[in-house]
Amino acid sequence: MGARRLLVTDLDGTLIGDDGGLGRFADWHAATRDDHWLVYATGRSHASLRRLTAETRLPEPDLVIALVGTEVYDRDGRLLPSWTERFTGSEGDRARRLLVADRGLRLQAASAQTHLKASFYAPALTADDLAGIRRELANAGLEATVVYSANLFLDVLPAAAGKGKAAREVARSLGVAHGDVLAFGDSGNDLELFEQGFRATTVGNALPELQLAVGPDVYRSPFNYADGVLDGIRHWSGGSTGAAAVRTGPIRSGSAYR
Ligand code: GLC
Ligand code: MG
Repeated sequence: MGARRLLVTDLDGTLIGDDGGLGRFADWHAATRDDHWLVYATGRSHASLRRLTAETRLPEPDLVIALVGTEVYDRDGRLLPSWTERFTGSEGDRARRLLVADRGLRLQAASAQTHLKASFYAPALTADDLAGIRRELANAGLEATVVYSANLFLDVLPAAAGKGKAAREVARSLGVAHGDVLAFGDSGNDLELFEQGFRATTVGNALPELQLAVGPDVYRSPFNYADGVLDGIRHWSGGSTGAAAVRTGPIRSGSAYR
């Protein structure tokens, strides 16, 4: 068997959304867990993920990229300071002050806000609106990554943060080549994950904002939620998820699951 692969997947709308599919994914993961690392890349906080893991069949991940790539946690739930410490400022506070005062944007709940992540409800922003917001932040000297999802959620993060940049760092720290990273998502906050040269899959229910923005090298699964993730793994493995091979005996070298 080849190198151990890294699966980086979004949660809400990707792995989460259909309990049957999540169960199938959990079974597959349990049967193949030594073949890959499982990393969640989510907009949620780590505390919110813990609640989700307690309530559903979501497997325990090896690492968590939380709060849209502003935080990374190890498998024991410890925040990895090496990621967060690279962001020096308090971009979140400044972005909140600026965008509430000047643009009248509505803040999300306090639990969605940190000194690095400012999050708003901003329905139906146009490309022009987003360009204006980016300009306004830049004029105020704020170097920011601006992420817009589901025609509603607006996140302002430090320029060097984001799901994709965090995933790249995780792959580097695990020594996994980009070609051995499989990425999965459904909406705008996953776009950066799709821009890293990973083997990427959009699930069938992915929003047009992601479907239309990604290139032809991305696999567009016709299956929804976790079944789309399993289908993407199958696609990038040449037709097999490896689970059947695990049930029927050792995986042959040169088999589909590499
Ligand atoms: C999650 C977060 C929210 C964020 C959204 C999009 O729902 O809780 O703060 O705006 O993802 O990234
Ligand atoms: Mg999502």
